Amino acid sequence: MIEEKCYDYKVTAAGRINIIGEHVDYCGGKVFPAALSLCNTVYVRPNGTDKINVSWTTLPQSVSLDIGRLETYRGLEYGNYQAGSALMWREAGHRLVGCDMLQHCTVPFGSGLSSSAAIEVSTIAALAVAAGEEFDPVEVAQLAQRAEREFAGVNCGIMDQYASACGKRGCAMLLDCKTLECEYVPLNLGDCSLVVINCGKPHNLTQSKYNERRAETEEAFAVLRGALPGITCLADVTPAQLEKYSHLLGGNVLRRARHVVEECDRVCKAADAMKRGDIAGLGALLNASHASLRDLYEVTGRELDSLAAAAQAHPACLGSRMTGGGFGGCTVSIVRTDALDDFRSYVSARYNAETGYTARIYDTEIAAGITVANI
Ligand code: GLA
Repeated sequence: MIEEKCYDYKVTAAGRINIIGEHVDYCGGKVFPAALSLCNTVYVRPNGTDKINVSWTTLPQSVSLDIGRLETYRGLEYGNYQAGSALMWREAGHRLVGCDMLQHCTVPFGSGLSSSAAIEVSTIAALAVAAGEEFDPVEVAQLAQRAEREFAGVNCGIMDQYASACGKRGCAMLLDCKTLECEYVPLNLGDCSLVVINCGKPHNLTQSKYNERRAETEEAFAVLRGALPGITCLADVTPAQLEKYSHLLGGNVLRRARHVVEECDRVCKAADAMKRGDIAGLGALLNASHASLRDLYEVTGRELDSLAAAAQAHPACLGSRMTGGGFGGCTVSIVRTDALDDFRSYVSARYNAETGYTARIYDTEIAAGITVANI
């Protein structure tokens, strides 16, 4: 039971799916995510002290963060994200006031649907509202990204926090991660729906593996810049240029670079396909993206591969791929709406038989990023 009357405001920020454009945000590429109705809600009210008191609907304990020493809370088991978010907000020169906040998250943890971004973004927005400050959702996203990097140790790109803060109901977002220009594209799938399925194996954005992939792409960029002085990021390299200079890169670094360059190309084609209503074309790009994440980027794993393959094998499925950082978490599939029930039962049964895990299928819609309400 949430005692809403104990609080002044209700602030939410969304989880997200990424339709396509995986592991390219930190290479300056374009991504194509959408905000979900699964979200983190922060109920907040100023308390006139120098403490941020955080409690959760799902945990018995609460923590009290002293706003004078937020940097000391790195690594805290509970309250780490909130402390990091508050510190980034204050370090950016904003007013921070003591407050009581209750956190309620419907984004499943470890699902690849960006529960951490939803928590960071909603916490920063709630702190702004509690202090009576206006906020710019793009700045909130950037500060949330810093909190993730500095407090969670994941050297992430901007996609999750941007989608969580700036999402629009019913729209996918074609976000250029180099310039932060964002085009909202109505999610028009004709007679199809998006289906989000959790493989049931928690992903661990195992900081180490994620950061390792990122380092490999940085290495590729450093080498290619020698041959192509005009490029400012790996996403600037065209598939033809990469072929021409592929002899400069070896082994894993070449495979990672090939994924990034080809995935960037797929994102533009996918956005065009959606605008034209070519859902079969869009689906084929999703399948190609999954294959590349499996074979070239190596971030899928047995469970996500089995789940994507089961979906792709169903006749009503136009395309399916892993979404998010990988190593577990969710897939996103495009499925003919009239066959959804059959699709769900076929995929669940086949996946369970192959892996022993139970797939969880979410009912979720494409929703707004941050919302603020007086209560
Ligand atoms: C995680 C990161 C994002 C992005 C994706 C992969 O979700 O937080 O910045 O890199 O992985 O596309």
